Amino acid sequence: MSNQPRHIAIIMDGNGRWAESKGKTRTFGHEKGAEVVRTITTYCATHPEIERLTLYAFSTENWKRPKLEVEFLMKLLEKYLKNELPTYLEGNIRFEPIGDLSLFSSSLRKTITHVREATEHCTGLVQSLALNYGGQDEIVRAANQLCEANAPITTESLTQALDCPSDVDLLIRTGGDNRLSNFLLWQSAYAELFFTDTLWPDFSENELNDIIRKFKTVERRFGGIN
Ligand code: IPE
Ligand code: IPE
Ligand code: MG
Repeated sequence: MSNQPRHIAIIMDGNGRWAESKGKTRTFGHEKGAEVVRTITTYCATHPEIERLTLYAFSTENWKRPKLEVEFLMKLLEKYLKNELPTYLEGNIRFEPIGDLSLFSSSLRKTITHVREATEHCTGLVQSLALNYGGQDEIVRAANQLCEANAPITTESLTQALDCPSDVDLLIRTGGDNRLSNFLLWQSAYAELFFTDTLWPDFSENELNDIIRKFKTVERRFGGIN
C-alpha cells in the first residue's frame, strides 16, 4: 500500500530572492507568492486524498524584518483573504488559521475571522495559513492552557491543545535551505521532509505532483520494522 499525503505542510520560502533576481523589490516576490498559494491550494482541493494543507505565511520571527516589509505583508494577507473567499467557497475549502493572532490589527483579525466563519461549513480540504506562528510558541501556549485548566499533560492532551492537532505526513520547504525555521515542530515528528531549491514563486503543481509521487514510494516505519 502506498502512503497517502493526508496532511501536507509547506514552508513557502524564497519570495524575496526571486524578486531580487529579477531586479525587483522583495514585495513583488510576495505578491507573486500569494498567487502560487492559490494555485497550490486549488491543486490540493482537487485531490481528495489530501485532507489538510498547512502553509507557513508569517513566523513569530518575521516581525524582525523592516517595518515596511512587515506592513506590506499584513496588507497583502488582508487583500488575499478578501479576494479569495470565492476560491474557498467554490473549492469547498475550509480556512483554519493557526498561530497567535492577537498581535494583528483588529481589521486584519476581523477579516481572518470572517473567512474562517464563512468557510466553516466547507467539507473538503482544510487550508491552514500559519500566521504569527512559531512551533515553540504553539507548544508553550498549549502547555499553559492545560496548566490553567489543571489538566494532565500527556502526548494526547498536548496534541489536542495545539492550534494544529494533526500530524504532518509530508513537509516541503522551497527556497534551498534545509531547516524547519520553527514550523510545526511537534506535528512533524514523523513527517517526510522534502527540500527543493525552487523559489516559492516558481513552485508549481507539477513539482508538487513529483514530490507526492516520491513521497508515496517512501517506506515509513514510525520506529517499527517492516
Ligand atoms: C518567504 O519568502 C515569505 C515570508 C517569510 C513571509 P522570504 O521573504 O523569506 O524570501 P527570501 O527567503 O528572503 O528569499
Ligand atoms: C520561514 O522563512 C518563514 C516563512 C516561510 C513564513 P524565513 O525566511 O523566515 O526563514 P529563515 O529566516 O530563512 O530561517
Ligand atoms: Mg526566507
